[in-house]
Amino acid sequence: MHRLPKISYHDIERIIEFDFVRATEAAALNSLRWLGRGNKESADAAACDAMRGMFDLMNICGEVVIGEGIKDDAPGIFKGEQLGTWVPGAPQFDIAIDPIDGTTNISKGAPNSISCIAAASPQEGVKVALRDVPSFYMSKLAYGPRVIDYMKKRGDSLHIDMPISEMLAIVARATDKRVQDVAVMMLDRPRHKEIVEQIRACGASLRMIGDGDIAAAMAPSLPESEIDLYMGIGGSPEAVLASAGIKCLGGEMQAKMWPRDEKEKKQLVADGWEKEIDRVYTADDLAQGENIIFCATGISDSALLRGVKSKGTTAITSSILMRAKSKTVRLIRTLHNLHNKTIRLRSDNREHQI
Ligand code: FBP
Repeated sequence: MHRLPKISYHDIERIIEFDFVRATEAAALNSLRWLGRGNKESADAAACDAMRGMFDLMNICGEVVIGEGIKDDAPGIFKGEQLGTWVPGAPQFDIAIDPIDGTTNISKGAPNSISCIAAASPQEGVKVALRDVPSFYMSKLAYGPRVIDYMKKRGDSLHIDMPISEMLAIVARATDKRVQDVAVMMLDRPRHKEIVEQIRACGASLRMIGDGDIAAAMAPSLPESEIDLYMGIGGSPEAVLASAGIKCLGGEMQAKMWPRDEKEKKQLVADGWEKEIDRVYTADDLAQGENIIFCATGISDSALLRGVKSKGTTAITSSILMRAKSKTVRLIRTLHNLHNKTIRLRSDNREHQI
């Protein structure tokens, strides 16, 4: 009897990447019934159930190295969880995951929620591809390729700690705009009061969002984006996920730990992070190496992706899929036939119609 030769794939990421999109699509579709229903925990649980269900079909050894933020006691997927079949010999992936970024938005039926995954396969010389930053929040500054090109040509450089007026002047020159036309996206939070005042004093235009700063931080890196700069303090896991995406888009992010109070700062010092507290991390520091896949699916509309749309018996999802190695940006619009479409849920290990 002739056996078929064992297939060795040229680049396994190229095949697996589409299953990661299936996972974010499934999370988006399964959480949609909670849109506007005032129950963010159920939305998150539905997204996690569908994501785990999809991973159960994937022949990978996946380990969650960055899970959901612990801020809400979410029923989420946390660090250390194993995803995939773990059959011996299956490819390994470190996974950073946010089944829903913007759970509060979903519960309110508000815009700006996505489901997203960053995954890194082993690469020589890269010990930790997706960095698990110990502080709860980071201060972030994100900008796109246009600003980077300008800075390279002109020798100008943005720095997260520079005065906001100088920052905005550089971005205005880089984007060929007047300062008053520069659009800055930011989470609407009391802690941003001072920077909001400074941005307004310079005359630039703010785009405040309720929640969901992965999509927001990636927005300036999208071609033809209406957002020029993302700025402000948000979750640390979200900074790493956004960095993976920004890196694939050729943009940049600078981020610093932002301890909430003296107690958190002392704890970071006690845990040996003193030297890192003032360190400015770049997107490359937070998401290292070339073997990184990033994908996201829109749940409700954001600056990055359209949310799920229903048309008769079709649900349409919009996703982005990228790899750091090739920097190909795939914008995937998927039409799901609701008569046929099923989603596998981990909770009962069965396929369900949505
Ligand atoms: P969740 O979806 O986990 O609620 O996170 C939403 C989010 O807005 C993130 O995008 C952001 O990084 C973080 O919360 C900001 O935290 P906070 O709401 O405490 O300001």
